[in-house]
Amino acid sequence: MTRYHSKPVSKEGWVNWSIEEDTIWHDLVKRQQDVIVDRACEAYLHGLKLLDLPLDRVPQLPEINKVLYETTGWQVEPVPALIDFDRFFDLLANKRFPVATFLRSRDEFDYLQEPDFFHEIFGHCAMLTNSDFAAFTEHYGKLGQAATSKQRGYLARLYWFTVEFGLVKEGEKLKIYGGGILSSPAETIYALEGDMAVREEFNLHTVLRTPYRIDIMQPKYFVINEMAELFKISQENLLHQTDLAIEAGLLPPLFEPKEPTHAE
Ligand SMILES: [Fe+2]
Repeated sequence: MTRYHSKPVSKEGWVNWSIEEDTIWHDLVKRQQDVIVDRACEAYLHGLKLLDLPLDRVPQLPEINKVLYETTGWQVEPVPALIDFDRFFDLLANKRFPVATFLRSRDEFDYLQEPDFFHEIFGHCAMLTNSDFAAFTEHYGKLGQAATSKQRGYLARLYWFTVEFGLVKEGEKLKIYGGGILSSPAETIYALEGDMAVREEFNLHTVLRTPYRIDIMQPKYFVINEMAELFKISQENLLHQTDLAIEAGLLPPLFEPKEPTHAE
C-alpha cells in the first residue's frame, strides 16, 4: 500500500506541477547540487549537464526524454506510485525507466520511504545517459522477466547495490553512481565519509547474498572499478549466479532486522 499518488500526466507527457512543488524542487536540487560536486562520479555529472535540469520549476518528462533518447535511447515512463515486479522488469527491458509523478511534501523534505519524482529524475536519470549503465539496466530488466520469484528476490540485491547504492573508483578516489545515494544529502556524505560504512570491492556472489534494509543508511556499499564493469557484469550468466547464491544462502546482516527482509 502507498500513501502517495502520482499526478495526472497529459497525452503529451506534461504534469501540472503547483507553485509549491516548483519551490520544493528548487530547494531539493539547490541543496543537493552543492553536496554532489566532489562526490558524484564523472558519468553522473556529465549526464546531469546534458539533462540541464531547470532549477526554478519541476522538469517535464518530455524534456528528460529528449536527452535520454538522444544519448542511450531510454525514456522515462510515468507510473502510479508503486508498480508490481512484472511491470517493473518489462519497463526496464524495454528501456523505459518508471517514474512516479509525485513530489515529496515539505514535511518529508529530508526523507521519504517511497521513490518520488526528485529521486527518480535527479537520482537516476543522469546515469541513464551513460551507455554502460543503460545497457546494464536494460539487461537487468530482461533477467527479471526470465527469473522465478525466488531468483528475483536475490536479483533485487544486484539492483540495490548498483543502480541504487553503487560506488565507483575514479583514480584513488571513491565516487557515487547510485541514485539512492545521490538523491539523499545525508547519505551522499555518509556513503563516502561515514566512519561506520563498509566499502567493499564488488563481488557478484557476495552482492547477491547481502541482505539490505530500505529504511536505514546502508551499512555496506560495493565498489566497482569503472562504469564498464557494469556492462561486464551484465554479460555474465546471472541467473546461474543467482542459483549459486540461493544455494549458498544469505550472509548474516550487518543490521538488526526490523522484519524478515525477504521471503526466502
Ligand atoms: Fe531508485
